[in-house]
This record gives sequence, structure tokens and C-alpha cells, in this order.
Amino acid sequence: MALVTTREMFDKALKSDYAVGAFNVNNMEIIQGIVEAACEENAPLILQVSAGARKYAKPAYLLKLVEAAIIDTGVDICLHLDHGEDFDICRKCVDDGFTSVMIDGSKHPFEENIRMTKEVVEYAHAHGAVVEAELGKLAGIEDAVSVDARDATFTVPEEAAEFVEKTGVDSLAVAIGTSHGAYKFKGKPELDFERLKEIHKLIPDTPLVLHGASTVLPEFVELCNEYGGNIPGAQGVPEDMIREAARYGVCKVNIDTDLRLAMTAQVRKYLAENPGEFDPRKYLGPGRDAIRDMVVHKIRDVLGASGRR
Ligand code: G3H
Ligand code: 13P
Ligand code: ZN
Repeated sequence: MALVTTREMFDKALKSDYAVGAFNVNNMEIIQGIVEAACEENAPLILQVSAGARKYAKPAYLLKLVEAAIIDTGVDICLHLDHGEDFDICRKCVDDGFTSVMIDGSKHPFEENIRMTKEVVEYAHAHGAVVEAELGKLAGIEDAVSVDARDATFTVPEEAAEFVEKTGVDSLAVAIGTSHGAYKFKGKPELDFERLKEIHKLIPDTPLVLHGASTVLPEFVELCNEYGGNIPGAQGVPEDMIREAARYGVCKVNIDTDLRLAMTAQVRKYLAENPGEFDPRKYLGPGRDAIRDMVVHKIRDVLGASGRR
């Protein structure tokens, strides 16, 4: 039981048609809920920390909480930096003990993205960590890396091949139509599977990563709204599309929004039904259980990762 890199998990996932879930963490309850689910399902697990999460919870707390989860459950965990915007934050995380970092140079010109990624790859590899990069732009907000939806451009397969060759990066996040948050599609959800297949054909040994992969299940949006929420028009990536992506090289699927919705729905429900309660354990407990149930559903029914540890 240890903090591990993604090497072994991606090697296995690449040869099969399932994907590893990468779940964003911000506090103890979220970490406990996710790890309990992965333990129950005997699934490989990536926990990822954004710049916002580092600011909210402080790096030392998150690191110690993840180490505690490993001791408590015996589950091997990859601890990953999500959307690192420069070398400095990637270096800090590697020095802190993260086993994986993302350098997100997607808002920069191609050559600059290559340069930044190479620099992080050299440092991380020398210290036993692995690196994810991103090519192509997702619409929406990506931590400090803001990308205007109108500038969103999908990953060019030939560029992906050149990028991987020149950087030696371990995995690559691709833009094929997903975006972050709860509002992904205005009309019919559509992902560019032909583009994904072409990328996978050109770089068959490179694990691909799908960001913005929450499904935004209507029942959770409705539950939030029933208890005082106001999130109309939310729409995510249909579950069958996620599993299809896993057939074409996608080994890591990033999920944050669905956890937020599941937790918030239960906390809202609890507080609405128990207006006199003010013990945080009473409402955070159901929130933690909601995270666990959502992650079990993702691992088992969407990613097909149960029993793959
Ligand atoms: O990609 C973004 C993740 O959902 C993290 O979001 O920056 O609000 O922590 P955050
Ligand atoms: P969602 O907002 O779809 O959950 O995506 C999360 C993500 O990509 C984190 O990097
Ligand atoms: Zn992302």
C-alpha cells in the first residue's frame, strides 16, 4: 500500500476497454467517500488536487489526508496535480510527494506548450513522478487557465503525435468536445469520436485523458433544485460516451462536478429536513455517503474499473 504513479494502471487500462477514475478532492469527507468506494470496488484510483483545492485546504493537509486514507484502507493511490499552470507548481507538488502532475500549457502556442511540458517531464521523471499534458483547448474554466469558449479548438491528431514525441510526456489530455462544469452542451451532446480514434491510431501507446467528463445526472440536479438550489439547464456527457471513449485510448477520466452535485444535494436535503440541526457531522456525513455512492456508480457502471486493481 503506497502512493503510486499511473504507470501500471495505465498500462493495464490501455490494453483493455475500461478507464481509471480521477476524482477531484478538496477536504476530508470527499477523500474518505472516494477512497471507500475504490476500496469496495477493488478499483485503481487517482485523486487529483487543483490549484483551487491547494489554496482551500493547503497542500500539507491534502497530502496527509491521502496518506491517512492509504493507511486506513490499504488502497494504492496516485496523487495527481490537476491543471498545473507552470513549472513552479508542478515542481512544488513533485517535491511534496505527488506521484503525478499535469502541466497544462493548452492556452499557450504549440511550441511553448512543448517547451513547458518538456521542462516538467525532465524534472518529474528525475524524481520518480509522471506527467500529463494537454493539447487542444476545452471550453470553460480550468483553474487559473481560463479559456474562452469561443476560442475552443479540438486536438489536432498529427500535432498530438509530434507533441508526445518531442516532450516524452506520459499521458495526454485531448479536447474532443467536453468542457468543465455543469453546462457542457446547449443542444444534443456530441463528442468527436473520429478525432479520438485518429489520435489513438497515431499514438496507440499513449494513455489519453478526458477532462470535463461529468455526466451531470438529472436526478442530482433535480434533488439540489428541490431543496433550494437553482441550477437550471445543466447538461453533461452521457455515460455511454464515456465508456466508448475508453475503447479508443482514454485511460483516465476526470470527474469533479458530479461529486459536487451529489454531495451538495444531500447536504441541502439534510439541512432542509432538519432545520434545527447545526452539528456539521450530521450533514457532512450524508454528503460523504453521497460521494461514495456516486464514485461506486462511476467505477462500476460507467468506467468499468471494478476489480481492476
Ligand atoms: O478542472 C477543474 C476542476 O473541476 C477543479 O475545479 O478549480 O474549482 O478546484 P476548481
Ligand atoms: P467535470 O467538471 O466535468 O467534473 O471535469 C472535471 C475535470 O476535468 C477536472 O480536471
Ligand atoms: Zn480538467
